Amino acid sequence: MGAPAPEALKGEDWAGEMGARWLASLDRFEGMIAPIGAGLLERAAYRPGERVLDLGCGGGATTLAIAAAVGSDGAALGLDIAPMLIEAARQRAAAAGSTARFICADAATAQLDEPPFDRLFSRFGSMFFPEPVAAFTNLRTMLKPGARIDLAVWAHPRDNLWMMEVMGVVRQHIEIPPATPRAPGPFAFEDLTYLEEILTEAGYAGMDVAAYEGRQAVGGPGATPQDAVDFVLSSMAVGRALDEAGDETRAAARADLVDLFTRRHVDGEGVMMQAKAWLVCAQA
Ligand SMILES: C[S@@+](CC[C@H](N)C(=O)[O-])C[C@H]1O[C@@H](n2cnc3c(N)ncnc32)[C@H](O)[C@@H]1O
Repeated sequence: MGAPAPEALKGEDWAGEMGARWLASLDRFEGMIAPIGAGLLERAAYRPGERVLDLGCGGGATTLAIAAAVGSDGAALGLDIAPMLIEAARQRAAAAGSTARFICADAATAQLDEPPFDRLFSRFGSMFFPEPVAAFTNLRTMLKPGARIDLAVWAHPRDNLWMMEVMGVVRQHIEIPPATPRAPGPFAFEDLTYLEEILTEAGYAGMDVAAYEGRQAVGGPGATPQDAVDFVLSSMAVGRALDEAGDETRAAARADLVDLFTRRHVDGEGVMMQAKAWLVCAQA
């Protein structure tokens, strides 16, 4: 076993290391969660003329889709804390001739010089606030009264085998402390009671949830088991923990992950593993 790395999975520095990791694997990350984004966009059903804020927009794929839906009479503004992702999103919008716009700021405290928005959207960009009530309260000041918010957040890891099984393999090689429930991070809102408490305290009402369940392509559609493992190790926090454990441990874990993906999950579409997310809406 390598040395325990108790801090290894804590905190996600999106304006720095994590933003750079997301950018380096942008196509793979976006390909993996594209079906969930499509489900959330379908549920949100944007109409021409609406003004929509895309919270934690990352590389801006969903912001561009929203811009196309709301048209030139509407507005799609992507807000993200990671400068490298906002730069990539702006380049993408320019290349596509999209009207989507992007602002780099911390959504928890930002004050935008913008008219209020009709809607707020976020595909996995709302779970990272250290003080979520304050952040969602700040976001509400950017919205018209009654504005609808649509959020995709991950359900519990036990329903996300892409995370559970990878962690299971990695834990055979290094010690990883159990996650702290409700801590900022991808699974902060796995418990919907907690999310409803936050939204209620922040002044939102009428939370309504649909479950999304399906298989997602680890490392994006068409990834081989080796591609998928490279993606996992270069982009997920477990990869950093393994880096710290040394070459031998990392190589052994890598081989076991390739074996897991090859034996149990590869099919014609890629490395397909079960995922579950909550598609949440509420009113400001
Ligand atoms: C999992 S990624 C999702 C990116 C994008 N929504 C997508 O689906 O492709 C989470 C995003 O939230 C952003 N983020 C995290 N904390 C933030 C904050 N306090 N303010 C604004 N953006 C934040 C990150 O920089 C990152 O781009």
